Amino acid sequence: MAYGVLNGESTAPQTNLKVAGQFLNGLGMLLGFGMGVAGYSILREPLDVRLDHLKIRLRNTGGQLPGRGLRILHLSDTHFQGIEWRERAKIDRIRRLTAGLEYDLLVHTGDFWHNDSGLNNLLTLLDSIPRPRLGSYGVLGNHDYVCYSHSDMWTRNWARYQAHNEQGGNGHQTNGLVSKPASPNGLAPHQNPPKKLSMFQNMVEFYRFAKYFMNVPFVLKRVHFNDVERLRRTLSDHGVQILHNQALHLQHKPGHPDGVDLYLAGVDDVSEGQPDVHQAFASVQTTKPLILLSHHPDILQEARAWQADVVLSGHTHGGQISLPWLGAIHTHSAHLRRHEAAGYLRRGKTHVYITRGVGEGIPLRFGARPQITLLTIKAG
Ligand SMILES: [Fe+2]
Repeated sequence: MAYGVLNGESTAPQTNLKVAGQFLNGLGMLLGFGMGVAGYSILREPLDVRLDHLKIRLRNTGGQLPGRGLRILHLSDTHFQGIEWRERAKIDRIRRLTAGLEYDLLVHTGDFWHNDSGLNNLLTLLDSIPRPRLGSYGVLGNHDYVCYSHSDMWTRNWARYQAHNEQGGNGHQTNGLVSKPASPNGLAPHQNPPKKLSMFQNMVEFYRFAKYFMNVPFVLKRVHFNDVERLRRTLSDHGVQILHNQALHLQHKPGHPDGVDLYLAGVDDVSEGQPDVHQAFASVQTTKPLILLSHHPDILQEARAWQADVVLSGHTHGGQISLPWLGAIHTHSAHLRRHEAAGYLRRGKTHVYITRGVGEGIPLRFGARPQITLLTIKAG
């Protein structure tokens, strides 16, 4: 092979060095960019709690809601677990955001803690927020009951994906619980001998798995059960009443311009509790506004839940990672579409609000800032 010669020296080694240098520069930039995104997602965005505002108008509710609207401060998914610097930073931020705030109800839609070690910080947060005029209420979330391990997340969900395929893609996806009927050879679907696939087929299979995995709730291993009764008692002592498949008739100066006459209901968690919408609504008079608290938005799969005028939920954390065009990379729900992982939506006449919540189990957020929300529900 003939090399170019300049002043009697070969240029090939210099060219190679230049290409290698450009490659290393590119790699360095990519690495730097990746580290920057990772740093932002772990250290910056999860701490950057915002206070959002939302107005909801309910028809035919004249005289049942205050003239200036019923103001509800909605918290969710605080996930406290005793990581002091992170949790104190969030508490301080929320203290500043809510300083001097006047409102009627405080509601928390579950995942108060991640485990028992988070109880002190949970109480500190509650003490840091101005007291509501009419009381504080909440419902339990899945993490209030259970701690999970992500150690076998991939293998567990791969087995589930295979079971789903064995059922011709009709695996029951509600709440992440997939029934697994035996296959014709008597083995559980994921025990069938693996088929030999070409590299291309493997890539296609991986793509299908990723697509499936992103669109159904994770199935995780339960490793520890939290003392949920301790949580309930402590919250009660702190003035937060847990609504367990029950409704309260909130009446305060009915008929007065500042008066309230409505029902506030709450159901147990969909994935770890025993939600019962029928029981929760049993005492409700349909002529009055009805607000339902449910940690898991999949309660909307029960048609009866649509009887509520407003449903407030959490659980999704807005997907924790949300990308332009694609939306949330994971909805944590069996029925929400990708752009419905957080925010306001309608189901029939029902106004639904799903908050991104305050905390997270895996300490990472990108494009899904933590939030608390001041809702104003007005007649009109
Ligand atoms: Fe949560």
